[in-house]
Amino acid sequence: MVMIEPIKGVCGEISLPGDKSITHRSFIFSSIAEGFSFIKNPNTGEDALRTLKIMQKIGAEISFEDKTIKIKGIGISGIKEPDDVLNAGNSGTTIRLLSGLFSGITGKLFVITGDSSLRKRPMRRIVEPIRLMGGFITGRRNGEFPPLVIVGRRLKGIEYEPEKPSAQVKSALILAGLNAESKTTILERVKTRDHTEIMLKAFGGKVSIEDKKITVFPVEKLYGREIIIPGDFSSASYFIVLTLLLSNSELVIKNVSLNPTRIYLIHVLRREGASIEILNEKVKNGERFGDIYIKSSNLSKIYISRNEAPLLIDELPLIGIMGTFLEEGVKVEGAEELRVKESDRIKLVVENLRNLGVLAYEFSDGFYVKRGNVKRGVVKTGFDHRIALSFSILGFLSKEGIYLEEAESIKISFPNFFDIARRAGYG
Ligand code: S3P
Repeated sequence: MVMIEPIKGVCGEISLPGDKSITHRSFIFSSIAEGFSFIKNPNTGEDALRTLKIMQKIGAEISFEDKTIKIKGIGISGIKEPDDVLNAGNSGTTIRLLSGLFSGITGKLFVITGDSSLRKRPMRRIVEPIRLMGGFITGRRNGEFPPLVIVGRRLKGIEYEPEKPSAQVKSALILAGLNAESKTTILERVKTRDHTEIMLKAFGGKVSIEDKKITVFPVEKLYGREIIIPGDFSSASYFIVLTLLLSNSELVIKNVSLNPTRIYLIHVLRREGASIEILNEKVKNGERFGDIYIKSSNLSKIYISRNEAPLLIDELPLIGIMGTFLEEGVKVEGAEELRVKESDRIKLVVENLRNLGVLAYEFSDGFYVKRGNVKRGVVKTGFDHRIALSFSILGFLSKEGIYLEEAESIKISFPNFFDIARRAGYG
């Protein structure tokens, strides 16, 4: 159990670990490219390292040099059959993206499992389209839950519209499409994070993007390169909210990913009057990044509508805890996907806030949180990193502090969170 003590303010300049989503993709593409790749500022949380370890098991050669990871790729056709079950741990991105890739590796067997949380998460969303491509993939309950078993086959390209917006499903199909006989098209209803498309291009792949229509063409070869990973915007979001809600605070967060599919939170906060500025914006390898300058601000409410929820899905638990401090509270709708993340995030946000004496109400697709005083109490994080990080922010903003159970889950995405908070915080 960790005690989170209140702080009075934050100031100065911080840099964050590399973006988790971009890091996963960089490990995958470097491993299936030809030659060497150099990945600078990777995310070294447990999720990303799961992907790295699996890439090693299928033949990639990996070495660490200071803050850079060097990968000698094996080429798409060089992927080896692993001699044991692969373990994706807590990481949905690892299991879903790699299932797509492995489905096209003809004649080879891959079995992927994960921890108790991952083994409860829905996989039919990737299993169905992979089967439509002619792939052999199954799992518990006819492919609904891991472990997943894949026997690679020659795939055919398809045109597919996923039922729910999901970058993981889109990316699984893009990776499967690399090895298919013909082009694969994914039609999105909402534009989800597009790091896979961007990075595939950087490695020499052929992909066409027309707004929400993505077409990937089969490739023979990808080419190793240098990738600099910008700071993780989802990690930045904790410090953005902390700075806004504390008085007398200002913070610069350096070199953060500003990919337009990731930063909808900035739009939501600004429309309520938040002082957030973007400085030194640049683009490298197709990815936008820059510095974010935040100052204490007076916000009175946040409302997230059904259409908006998918655009800031990872930031919704944090938005939930903000309700405690805003005069008119916070309401979120259209976020039923939160129930099938690393935990049931709707339930954990509401139950924990209630245990701390805050009025919070659960809906099937969201929550409503009213302003109230946070009593010192214990938060059950359910080993979910985003719940642990969001309630840490609540603890810093509270008057009496809180206790966090299973706070070690923070290592999934943001291993040095408490060091950075200690450096930026005062009082
Ligand atoms: C991710 C996509 C999102 C997100 C997850 C990371 C990715 O999941 O919630 O944390 O790296 O592609 P969905 O695509 O299932 O919404």
